[in-house]
Amino acid sequence: MSAMRRPRLINRQPAEATGLRDELAAGLLAPSAHVSPKFLYDSLGSRLFAAITEVEEYYPTRTEAGIFNAHAEQIAASIGPGCTLVDLGAGNCAKACNLFPTLKPARYVAVDISVDFLAESLNYLQFRHPEMDVTGLGCDFSSRLDLPDEIGSGPRVLFYPGSSIGNFTPDQALVFLQQARDASQGGGMLIGIDLVKPQAILDAAYDDALGITAAFNLNLLNAVNRQLGANFGVSNFRHIAFFNAEQSRIEMHLEARHTNTVTWPGGERCFVAGERIHTENSYKYTVDRANSLLNAAGFRRTRCWTDPKGWFALFWATV
Ligand code: AVJ
Repeated sequence: MSAMRRPRLINRQPAEATGLRDELAAGLLAPSAHVSPKFLYDSLGSRLFAAITEVEEYYPTRTEAGIFNAHAEQIAASIGPGCTLVDLGAGNCAKACNLFPTLKPARYVAVDISVDFLAESLNYLQFRHPEMDVTGLGCDFSSRLDLPDEIGSGPRVLFYPGSSIGNFTPDQALVFLQQARDASQGGGMLIGIDLVKPQAILDAAYDDALGITAAFNLNLLNAVNRQLGANFGVSNFRHIAFFNAEQSRIEMHLEARHTNTVTWPGGERCFVAGERIHTENSYKYTVDRANSLLNAAGFRRTRCWTDPKGWFALFWATV
């Protein structure tokens, strides 16, 4: 039996948690309290998100998968075989894995905040694809996308599915896409973007009847308790989600059910009944606005595929 090839792991995550604690405290003490959505993805949060993608009301994951299936050959032909596929926010690597048979990448670089979760996913992936050059990169690219030279030079295909771009404001999204254009080194970006649609469908997708999205949102308080040493009581807050049409975004908040005070080492805040902590934005685009954004970031040529209902768009964007 030959020795099994192991994926390479690069950790660019700071070991120090002080920065995260300062960021959390600042957000909680702001006049309108807010916490970054990255705190939704602790180990339970990542599992709850996976469950969200399977509930009836949450259409994005299923719709995007339908687009990949319907246009697999065209997508692969646009990109070409033998690429370096860089998966931004890889998680369990399932979406990228589904592309392998048609896309036939030569190298796969999985990037995620949680390097431990990645390591597990990649051991399995390497086992199933022994010939593939596999690298795991632990880094938080939400504030700055800067890929290390160690992952290899040459054109890269940045894979950014699921409409995670929606977590950025349009201004931040532009900066991120400019960084992505530079990081692609003449390759391109395969990006999924959720589209504007009737409000009732959007509202339901972020407030499902089973309460999975509510649990996902409320679990952020557990993550904050652990990271900051705070004493949030999950049952003191309720999940709120709605489409803000003026801003073209879903907003998620945690609303105090009654007045309660939360403390942590070095700080405290009283939340009066009805007061909210803003936990996530999920911007929705039209195909035209998404195209303009990609063009403004320096991706001059785009190809776009959508589903029959026009609910979700997949773009292949190149310089
Ligand atoms: C992972 C950011 C794409 O905005 O739809 C799902 C996160 N939040 N349900 C989204 C999410 C609530 C999701 N993204």
